[in-house]
Amino acid sequence: MDVSKDIVWHQHSVDRQRRERQLGQQGCVIWFTGLSGCGKSTIANALDAMLVAEGRATTLLDGDNVRHGLCAPPAVLQPEHGAEFAERFGLGFGAVDREENIRRIGNVAALMASAGLITLTAFVSPYRRDRDRVRKIVAEAGRASDFVEVFVDTPLEVCEARDPKGLYKKARAGEIKHFTGISDPYESPASPEIRLDGGAGKSVEALAGEVREWLVGNGVF
Ligand code: PPS
Repeated sequence: MDVSKDIVWHQHSVDRQRRERQLGQQGCVIWFTGLSGCGKSTIANALDAMLVAEGRATTLLDGDNVRHGLCAPPAVLQPEHGAEFAERFGLGFGAVDREENIRRIGNVAALMASAGLITLTAFVSPYRRDRDRVRKIVAEAGRASDFVEVFVDTPLEVCEARDPKGLYKKARAGEIKHFTGISDPYESPASPEIRLDGGAGKSVEALAGEVREWLVGNGVF
């Protein structure tokens, strides 16, 4: 990777293969994407619990949680770091902020996969280009098959009727700007590895099970 002549890639003595052998699994990124309220966090959480119960080494990165720290908004950063820092590095929901959110998370997820972890992520990640960039980052850190895109395909009407956090109501009232599906776009994956029908009344366990079956069937683990 040609970053700058003053930054040189370190080759570590413990390589990815050794970590994966030790864990008895291949690191990968299972990338859940979909509208707010589509069920991605809930399904990823259920899958995580299923895999940990089987003795797998996993981790779960989730939009709301990551936005408390790594990708915190300016208002959270400002008291400690000051206005200029908060403005430069704090993230909101405009297209460029989402791009940076997904770039940071994509790189973190790739590092976790390189450590041999089955890395589950649950982010709206509404832009196809941002998700495709993560696919590339993950592939470059390992194998092309390490990135598994899971589209939680739940109709907007269903997400809005659920409205678990009351955000759709606020977005409709104009109290939240750039709200995905209402005042901001969601670009559905063109060919996700897995599509889950989140609007058909299936249980969370059944949907998580579909992902698990796919992963086993495709030799991910
Ligand atoms: S993104 O698009 O991937 O950068 O978003 P993400 O980091 O996953 O954060 C999504 C969660 O933030 C809350 N929230 C919003 N979502 C979408 N649009 C807007 N404008 C917005 N404002 C706040 C919401 O709780 C999302 O969580 P989920 O679990 O998807 O409902």
